[in-house]
Amino acid sequence: MNSDIFSNKQKLFDLWAPNYDCLLTTVFYQAVHKRLLEYVELTDQQPHVLDLGCGTGRLLNRLAAQFPTLQGTGVDLSAEMLSQAQQRHHYRDRLMYKQGNAESLPLEENQFDAVFNTISFLHYPNPQQVFLEVSRVLRPNGRFYLVDYTVREEMGSNIQLPLSPGGLRFYSPQQRQHFGQETGLECLAHYYLLGPVMLTIFAKLAGRVNG
Ligand SMILES: C[S@@+](CC[C@H](N)C(=O)[O-])C[C@H]1O[C@@H](n2cnc3c(N)ncnc32)[C@H](O)[C@@H]1O
Repeated sequence: MNSDIFSNKQKLFDLWAPNYDCLLTTVFYQAVHKRLLEYVELTDQQPHVLDLGCGTGRLLNRLAAQFPTLQGTGVDLSAEMLSQAQQRHHYRDRLMYKQGNAESLPLEENQFDAVFNTISFLHYPNPQQVFLEVSRVLRPNGRFYLVDYTVREEMGSNIQLPLSPGGLRFYSPQQRQHFGQETGLECLAHYYLLGPVMLTIFAKLAGRVNG
């Protein structure tokens, strides 16, 4: 069942990929990326970051421009999104891309100073599993920047819409916090970035070493 969902999601994003950066939606996503950068702190001399559900790699390129020593990895379900990212990106020596599923990342544990996830979390049928994977690949004290549409707690902590294969899922700030508590990620803050799009920043608890 889940494998059908992922294969149908992948087909949808493969179709979208060649036009992803020309459509009106990209103007919105670019504005969200810019607002996100106002909150990003990377203290390591040579930060190593992951963009999960990276699409065409626009956020990673922005991060590489802002942090000249940053090394970045982008993971996405869609081979076509990654192909667009590889054709267009400017920092070939510092950015790399891998195909993979957020639920079972093809990456070693405890290696990233920060994980980014922008407008992708709504597509995950098993969100808790993705949190576990993010916690696994982050270094202790590493940050998780989760950016997605949110809903108010009174509307239900978790709303599903049948708009894409497997549905779309929206979570309240409290529900995000709960995912973090269950997986060793402390919720530091929530910020509205643009309309209903909210950034939640988590820190991996220092005592938690996965592997
Ligand atoms: C709306 S796009 C956002 C892309 C990019 N993060 C941005 O801000 O422009 C959602 C992305 O999530 C990816 N995605 C969806 N489900 C995924 C999964 N289970 N694992 C990895 N990537 C996934 C899609 O392939 C797509 O590239």
